[in-house]
Amino acid sequence: MNETIENLKSRRSIRKFKDEQISDEDLKTILETGTYAPTARGMQSPKIVVIQNPETIKELSAWNRTFFPVEVPDDLDPFYGAKTLLIVLADGEVPTWKEDGSSVLTVLVNAAHAVGVGSCWIHRAYDEFQSEKGKELLKEWGIPETYEGIGHVVLGYPDMEAPEPLPRKKKEIKDELILLIYIFSGAVTPKISKAFFIVILALSTKINLVSSKSEPITCSDL
Ligand SMILES: Cc1cc2nc3c(=O)[nH]c(=O)nc-3n(C[C@H](O)[C@H](O)[C@H](O)COP(=O)(O)O)c2cc1C
Repeated sequence: MNETIENLKSRRSIRKFKDEQISDEDLKTILETGTYAPTARGMQSPKIVVIQNPETIKELSAWNRTFFPVEVPDDLDPFYGAKTLLIVLADGEVPTWKEDGSSVLTVLVNAAHAVGVGSCWIHRAYDEFQSEKGKELLKEWGIPETYEGIGHVVLGYPDMEAPEPLPRKKKEIKDELILLIYIFSGAVTPKISKAFFIVILALSTKINLVSSKSEPITCSDL
């Protein structure tokens, strides 16, 4: 299998890390790769904040815990003891800030895996940076107050086996039906057959064409 495809498919969230810091070289590679993430119009508004100070990570972990929507134990560490914490922020004044920031996060976790560093995407950054404390941190870090929290990435060398991925949901288009539509459209007039076929295909996806297993095609299946 192509190495990049293999890497994308074998990455899993890692939630237990070795008691050692990741190398500067690995960190640099991960961060630099993150800057190559696609952003709308190549705006590159997202910023990646790197935190390795153990006290600061501890403090931010306790802070993150306060944003869980349910009651959680006081000793729960949402950052899983990781020694490197990345926080991705994006400029709320850019219309695609959420998409751009998520794009960076996705590249970061995959880049980490590619160099043998375990990672996990951690939530609640949006709530954090909506709060007064969040605004103060932005000021402290010299980041404009228009920046919004996208997410965190915890990094470390894995101290656990990568879990098996959940079975993938499948988008199954009823092949026979599509073939029939194609043949039919071709029979009407070969010239417009391809365009007609594409329109039908687009429409059938939009109207949640029932798959061969009679499961509706929904967005979450894509
Ligand atoms: C938007 C988003 C938020 C997430 N937040 C958390 C989180 O707060 N804590 C956590 O342990 N994992 C979090 N994850 C990781 C998911 O739980 C994980 O990706 C999912 O269970 C699939 O597992 P895999 O990453 O091993 O394939 C988050 C993932 C995404 C995309």
